[in-house]
Amino acid sequence: MPSIEIPRTYRVKSFGCQMNVYDGERMGELLAEQGITAAPEGEEADLVVLNTCHIREKAAEKVYSDIGRLRRTDGSSPLIAVAGCVAQAEGDEIMKRSPAVKMVVGPQAYHRLPEMIRVAAEGKRVTDTDMPAETKFGALPRRRRSGPTAFLTVQEGCDKFCTYCVVPYTRGAEVSRPHADLIDEALRLVDAGAREITLLGQNVNAWTGEDAKGRQVGLDGLIRELAEIPDLVRIRYTTSHPNDFTGGLIAAHGEVAKLMPFLHLPVQAGSDRVLKAMNRSHTAESYLKVLEKVRAARPDIALSGDFIVGFPGETDAEFEETLALVDAVGYAQCFSFKYSPRAGTPAATMTEQVPAEVMTERIMRLQAALGRDQTAFNAASVGKTCEVLVERKGKLPGQWLGKSPWLQSVYFEGDVAVGDLVRVELVDSGYNAVSGRLLETVAA
Ligand code: 5AD
Ligand code: SF4
Repeated sequence: MPSIEIPRTYRVKSFGCQMNVYDGERMGELLAEQGITAAPEGEEADLVVLNTCHIREKAAEKVYSDIGRLRRTDGSSPLIAVAGCVAQAEGDEIMKRSPAVKMVVGPQAYHRLPEMIRVAAEGKRVTDTDMPAETKFGALPRRRRSGPTAFLTVQEGCDKFCTYCVVPYTRGAEVSRPHADLIDEALRLVDAGAREITLLGQNVNAWTGEDAKGRQVGLDGLIRELAEIPDLVRIRYTTSHPNDFTGGLIAAHGEVAKLMPFLHLPVQAGSDRVLKAMNRSHTAESYLKVLEKVRAARPDIALSGDFIVGFPGETDAEFEETLALVDAVGYAQCFSFKYSPRAGTPAATMTEQVPAEVMTERIMRLQAALGRDQTAFNAASVGKTCEVLVERKGKLPGQWLGKSPWLQSVYFEGDVAVGDLVRVELVDSGYNAVSGRLLETVAA
């Protein structure tokens, strides 16, 4: 294979979860440190990193069509690296199927990208899907740039092994990043302009670490400490598991003003039999108990979740239990998915796979119920006054878009700038967003 020049520009395309967005940013920072600069919008990049998602079949298939789309009219391609969870799960297959791909790098190995690029520039194809004992974080450059909202991975991997899920295989075992590293990264993000930090983890509420005084603390302890950073005004975290919800974290929702009143707590299904078959290790009732306690601590908390319909063996009656749970909770927003068999997971070989048309009918019914609740939640916020963190310009002239404390998209007009914290009266609502009237700027 002929040698290739070291790329001068890059583009990272991240798919899937917020952790992939975070990883994508970190890869960009790493490449920039090597003198490879981000390709300007609309221009071709010398190096394209496809940072992929393997959680459901459709997401994984996308990789191959994206690789095809990168081919130029003269038949050549940029230097292509496939990263993320598809790389981890199907690295060898990608190399076989797609000669244009020169690098395959797993989620725990991307700090080695610079070295891989040098090897690829010599004309060799290279795969690194190791899960090294030393974590990638120590090898990544310090954070220097941030928008008003930033992600911060505090915990990674999963030991829960839900029977449908690839994450324990693609992201590896649960690992908490050290407390001191997180405080340091948070301070740097805030210095770089972040006003809101979302703490990320596949089981973020399982995070634990030793604080500066040598005390073992949980996520609530970390949140309380981050809340002391003066210019950090908002803290969020995602995604939690019902079984790792501690009393301390629930209390923090009532006591830490900077912790936003929003909780994404996936339940997946409303039937205890299905939950057991999913190896969720909680019941519908124990899940509802957690929500009840969080609501007692923070009555206005907005709730979110994930659902899977058509898990193998799910009956009509069991699906009705999911709808009943939705009715019982009254979610502000939710994600819902058709079950997708993932190779290597126990559920993929379960015999009673649910027919596609049944799955379609169920997801339509579920999404109608969730849509109804989301619209109702937004409608109920009309008349309230709240702070909005301005994230970007809206599509209409003079319009801005930010988030309410309850993670609603809020559109409004006025003389503000990205990163401002403003006070807004919510005046109208729809399914996807609410509109507001600017009252004042709280912090510019
Ligand atoms: N099929 C469908 N949905 C899935 N999820 C995870 N694995 C699968 C699968 N095999 C969903 C779960 C999880 C979210 C991130 O993706 O709802 O909470
Ligand atoms: Fe997947 Fe379950 Fe772990 Fe969530 S808790 S990442 S669904 S295995």
